[in-house]
Amino acid sequence: MKIVRYPHPSLRFPARLLTDIDEKVRTGARQMLDLMYESKGIGLAGNQVFWPYQLFVMNVKSDPQRRELEHVLINPVIVERKGSVEGEEGCLSFPGLFQKVRRAKTVRVQAYNLEAQPIELFTSNVHPEIQELTSRVLQHEIDHLHGVLFIDKMGTIAKLSSRGKLKELERDYRKAQERGETPSDAEIDKRLKNGELELM
Ligand code: CO
Repeated sequence: MKIVRYPHPSLRFPARLLTDIDEKVRTGARQMLDLMYESKGIGLAGNQVFWPYQLFVMNVKSDPQRRELEHVLINPVIVERKGSVEGEEGCLSFPGLFQKVRRAKTVRVQAYNLEAQPIELFTSNVHPEIQELTSRVLQHEIDHLHGVLFIDKMGTIAKLSSRGKLKELERDYRKAQERGETPSDAEIDKRLKNGELELM
């Protein structure tokens, strides 16, 4: 399993709902958590590991010891957003790119956990020190599952100042394809459309 980078088509793919939360899914989530911690990330969505299902993992401290902050959310839905706040954001699929993005200050999210039980995360109840970041990660990751990226949520100035970095990422991606390190877009599309629940 590895993290795909922009402009990999998986990042624009609306992830499928998970209808069975079985051992395969639990294994996948565990691998995603390991990969997230290894990459010092605070969130990682299925699309980002070319596993096109509605699942993401998070830990706002990126600290495996802080188990109370570790979450796996399946088929998540934002049912309430309140307030608005701007803050710096990055993404493991966009290494080196950090920009201000405006997000809701608190959110209420309903989802399922790995035991297939319905869960709710309400960030109004989260410690003030990590409230804004928790809300931000939830919104960022749920966007991923719909093929929406933080570059879409940037204001005009942030968008303009990201252009150079995006061009660089595009260039690197095409080079990796030419070297055969990344499959062709046609191959990737085929896998996304087949949507087999296989881990890579
Ligand atoms: Co991201």
